[in-house]
Amino acid sequence: MLFNPIAAASLLAVLGTLLTDVLAQDAEGWYNAHPAMARINRVNQDTHQIVDEFGRTRFFHGTNVVMKEPPWHRPLEWVPGVSSFGKQDVQNLHDLGLNIVRLGHSWAGAEPVRGLYNQTFLDILKKQTKMAEDHGLYVLVDVHQDCLSRQFCGHGVPDWFVQEDWIPSSSMYPFPLKLAPFPVDENGFPSPQSLCDTIDWSLSYTSVAVGNAFGRLYNNYDGVGDAFAMYWKKLASLYAGTANVVGYNLLNEPWVGDTWADPTLLVPGVADHKVLEGLWNRATKQIRIIDNDTLIWFEGATLDILSGFNNVPLRDGSKSVQSFHYYSPPQLGSISTTLNNRHKDNERLKTAGVLTELTFWMGDEKQMQGLTDAMAATDANMVSWIGWAYENLYNGTSGHPYPELAKHYSRAYPAAVAGTPTSFSFSESSATFKLQFTSDPSIDAPTEIILPPSTFPNGYTVQVSPDGSVLQYTLDKRTLALFTSTNVKNATKISVTISCK
Ligand SMILES: *[C@@H]1O[C@H](CO)[C@@H](O)[C@H](O)[C@H]1NC(C)=O
Ligand SMILES: *[C@@H]1O[C@H](CO)[C@@H](O)[C@H](O)[C@H]1NC(C)=O
Ligand SMILES: *[C@@H]1O[C@H](CO)[C@@H](O)[C@H](O)[C@H]1NC(C)=O
Ligand SMILES: *[C@@H]1O[C@H](CO)[C@@H](O)[C@H](O)[C@H]1NC(C)=O
Repeated sequence: MLFNPIAAASLLAVLGTLLTDVLAQDAEGWYNAHPAMARINRVNQDTHQIVDEFGRTRFFHGTNVVMKEPPWHRPLEWVPGVSSFGKQDVQNLHDLGLNIVRLGHSWAGAEPVRGLYNQTFLDILKKQTKMAEDHGLYVLVDVHQDCLSRQFCGHGVPDWFVQEDWIPSSSMYPFPLKLAPFPVDENGFPSPQSLCDTIDWSLSYTSVAVGNAFGRLYNNYDGVGDAFAMYWKKLASLYAGTANVVGYNLLNEPWVGDTWADPTLLVPGVADHKVLEGLWNRATKQIRIIDNDTLIWFEGATLDILSGFNNVPLRDGSKSVQSFHYYSPPQLGSISTTLNNRHKDNERLKTAGVLTELTFWMGDEKQMQGLTDAMAATDANMVSWIGWAYENLYNGTSGHPYPELAKHYSRAYPAAVAGTPTSFSFSESSATFKLQFTSDPSIDAPTEIILPPSTFPNGYTVQVSPDGSVLQYTLDKRTLALFTSTNVKNATKISVTISCK
């Protein structure tokens, strides 16, 4: 037979199309066989990254949703610029390219009477978590607090927690920030409430009353530490086995304890091992009676430079994540410095870390530059982030997300990597995304890249090297799946570049 180059070329083209169709069916077949969100319950202690049930390295971009006053949960009805959390909100977050929510689960809302849980309240939060799952969003269950209780112009613990006779009346809140304690109503809350506006909430931690109450939580005075741990056991029984629950964030921004009784607690790193570690172990023990799978996300003191924990909760770094924040102040250096320090912690504690709060609201030029820097630094260090907070993303008048914020957080990122990522980056100016990873042939699941439609309005082009090492499959409007080709039998360095059309 004579060699006919034109026929050969068209034969190859036909074969190529057939091959693509076959592979596309395989891709669809894979997703049909795996309809649920991938469970996330392990940390790779060599790479210090979170991995899913298939062994893929996972990355998260998201926002916080926390209700700091009664009824302690967000309303389901969406109003732009007002914090709600319902169907429209999870759709919004999906459209913005986010894949995680750190959802506040107020202890005050859950246990209004000591020992009696409010199931109606817990069911609402569970329903909101389910809505998130239906839109492909992971949820970090967060027990939130700021200045601990309503008696201290804050929120977090139930109203029964703080007892009036814990300190002499002359040192009551906010002594010594003000020399005379605030007048209080029949619940012990400052009255009128406007008094709270006369105090800087972050300085409140240095008051005698707040330090004392934290001290009692850590010392388990009158069983309040046990009550906290039992609340976590309750949450674990609510969520054990839930596909989209990515972790239990034990307590937001824990204060260092009773610094009036023990001033050494103010030395960075000391409180972590001296007081926090005990409470984290106490809570984790209760969680593990019910749920051995879900990752425990633990925070250190906000003032830390390097973490001072001797161990992660119950000593298992493969089942825990260090949850940390970056604000300036109190952090003194750049975000890169904080990320470097947290990485050193992860190496020492053999665990992973996620930035669970950072400034995510409209501000002056310096603040917006800070956001640019934060996004570049988290990509460069391959660190997941959760911004503060969802309601700040929307202009309440126009009903639209602020474009000045969206250009930073609605970015391309690898939600799942079927191998070991070595680097990724996203250029906000050119909308170019780059990922390099070493494939792992033992992983039977695709790499998934989130490409928010608003950031790629005319679509995108994909370049892969080596040629043919992955099969592309468009999973949905925002997700490109890359199945590592079955021809790639050995670990191979794969580069992906995605550009805006
Ligand atoms: C329990 O929670 C529901 C929903 O927020 C609320 O309406 C109800 O008042 C709560 N009950 C108590 C005793 O706090
Ligand atoms: C979790 O593991 C511990 C120790 O292996 C075991 O005692 C406990 O029963 C397990 N809990 C569950 C819910 O499987
Ligand atoms: C919010 O939207 C309104 C209405 O479109 C607009 O006039 C206003 O400038 C926006 N605010 C900001 C801060 O962008
Ligand atoms: C691929 O891996 C196999 C099994 O580990 C090994 O025998 C082979 O030499 C590798 N091939 C290449 C090209 O590295």
